[in-house]
Amino acid sequence: MRSHYCGQLDTSLIDQKVELCGWVNRRRDHGGVIFIDLRDREGIAQVVFDPDRAEPFAIADSVRNEYVVRITGHVRHRPEGSVNPELPTGAVEVLGHSIEILNKANTPPFQLDDEHVQDDVRLRYRYIDLRRPQMQHNIRLRSQVCKSLRNFLDKQGFLEIETPMLTRATPEGARDYLVPSRTHLGHFFALPQSPQLFKQLLMISGMDRYYQIVRCFRDEDLRADRQPEFTQLDIETSFMDEQQITDIMEQMIRELFKEHLDVQLAAEFPRISYAEAMDRFGTDRPDLRNPLELIDMGDLMKEVSFKVFSGPANKADSRVAALCLPDGGKLTRKEIDDYTAYVSNYGAKGLAYIKVNDISQGIAGLQSPILKFLPEDVVDEIIKRCNANNGDVIFFGADKAKIVNDSLGALRVKLGQDLKLHNGDWAPVWIVDFPMFEYNQEDSRWDSLHHPFTAPQVSDTAALKADPGNCLSRAYDLVLNGTELGGGSVRIHRAEMQKAVLHLLGISEQEAEQKFGFLLTALDFGCPPHGGIAFGLDRIVMLLAGANSIRDVIAFPKTQTASCILTSAPSPASASQLRELGIKLNKPRKVEN
Ligand code: AMO
Ligand code: AMP
Repeated sequence: MRSHYCGQLDTSLIDQKVELCGWVNRRRDHGGVIFIDLRDREGIAQVVFDPDRAEPFAIADSVRNEYVVRITGHVRHRPEGSVNPELPTGAVEVLGHSIEILNKANTPPFQLDDEHVQDDVRLRYRYIDLRRPQMQHNIRLRSQVCKSLRNFLDKQGFLEIETPMLTRATPEGARDYLVPSRTHLGHFFALPQSPQLFKQLLMISGMDRYYQIVRCFRDEDLRADRQPEFTQLDIETSFMDEQQITDIMEQMIRELFKEHLDVQLAAEFPRISYAEAMDRFGTDRPDLRNPLELIDMGDLMKEVSFKVFSGPANKADSRVAALCLPDGGKLTRKEIDDYTAYVSNYGAKGLAYIKVNDISQGIAGLQSPILKFLPEDVVDEIIKRCNANNGDVIFFGADKAKIVNDSLGALRVKLGQDLKLHNGDWAPVWIVDFPMFEYNQEDSRWDSLHHPFTAPQVSDTAALKADPGNCLSRAYDLVLNGTELGGGSVRIHRAEMQKAVLHLLGISEQEAEQKFGFLLTALDFGCPPHGGIAFGLDRIVMLLAGANSIRDVIAFPKTQTASCILTSAPSPASASQLRELGIKLNKPRKVEN
């Protein structure tokens, strides 16, 4: 139906006949001449109809925004003075010879160039939202990113292999989406939270290098970078250690950024241990563009009379830390109050601070509600550790370590954004040496920090059992600008170690057999040492596209409450479907269709 895309027109086509198909972006009536901006995937072309050709002119006059039309005409230079340097096609226009309305359109629910359309309206009319140039760009970028990743992995000898969607639960820490089985009444499939166990089985099968661009399903609280169904670039390799795996993945990410953004990421991504990340940034996904760091003060505060500090300073599970904000002395009282309210969202009971007005005057040059509680030598040491200068402000957090890390970690991010402190554009970092387990106080047992198939750094089960709390894992996460892009590990490849880990997680032998028996059996049939990683594809594309949410790089995302308002999913099942599945609802809702 067409000879060119609208966005392809340029001066090389002058005097040529073209046939274009697309949507009416705008129709303008300019004193007897009608202009149609015709839009398709590749861009916008200006088409002119003059009254000499009465029939096409009348049709052109009748079209409205978003009508689908086919136009033939010939390309000519725009008259001097009307060249539009903003548009790639802005030097030319098409003199329309004929126009055919392929389909009319109702007035769209929002203008495509309106930046402030409500999210639910965008999602309800997602097919229109996706017409916007930014969304077209994002979705195209996503396609190109997938292609680059496939090319890279193909060249490195990886095989793309599909794994089942109807499967059984894989523990990645979220709730499962369940699918009832009709042929096995009372039994349910789980949609995969990840292909973790299948990719390990593929290594046992000798596939050696596997990848898959795969949908994963997790019923968890949603955020800007979380969706209930999302896409992983999932990878597994045999006979490679963590250094080799992270090296090759680093190379892949570097090539991706070079190709799509022309950005050269560091030749070697820095590596920071989990413990160091928590100490310095209060989080295991630090944004290293932000120069602020948490500084430990606990050892200084053990004897001070200020109970808010001395209490936590003397407890093993607590922390006293400072965050020095260069030039922060100019913050007003109100701004400090606002930051105090902000950290309270993370459980902080206050936000003590010292303003450094004039260091040369000693204590007299400082301003703070807590100075009266702190001896002079302690104050001197605080200033020294923070490397504070005149004009700075030093904030403090004192509480359970988790609360201090969460609140000062969040304050660090917020100050970085509010005060535009970021250095550079891209800061990738590997976080390594994670603990194997974290203690779950509520249930009095250990939880995996990653998943239960992650190998410990110790190789014998006795060492693992002797001190699980201090045992580190062979896991690694890749963090970019404060977003966790991917995570993986070297896996347990011996049944004995796998059983020991499941046991420590409070999973009985019987339950382990029932849930993971197939894996335990497989490990005993010649399982090679293996390891891998999974990247959040949506997150990678979000960062490359400069989007604020992964929703902007997913064609049909879910809402904040995990529903699809375009198709009204989820929806009630009919009585007959439920009967067939042997399901009786506890509180049957009215079935609508
Ligand atoms: P993990 O659970 O860390 O590891 O997931 C890997 C990556 O997937 C992305 N991700 C998400 N993206 C969008 N929405 C979500 N709800 C969501 N959850 C996770 C993140 C994350 O880094 N099987 C292991 C990987 C392995 O060990 O190889 C796994 O799934 O970017
Ligand atoms: P108060 O003695 O409660 O008036 O607190 C004195 C200062 O310490 C105030 O600036 C509080 O915001 C701050 N503060 C109180 N509790 C904490 C805490 N747990 N961590 C950090 N600062 C705190």
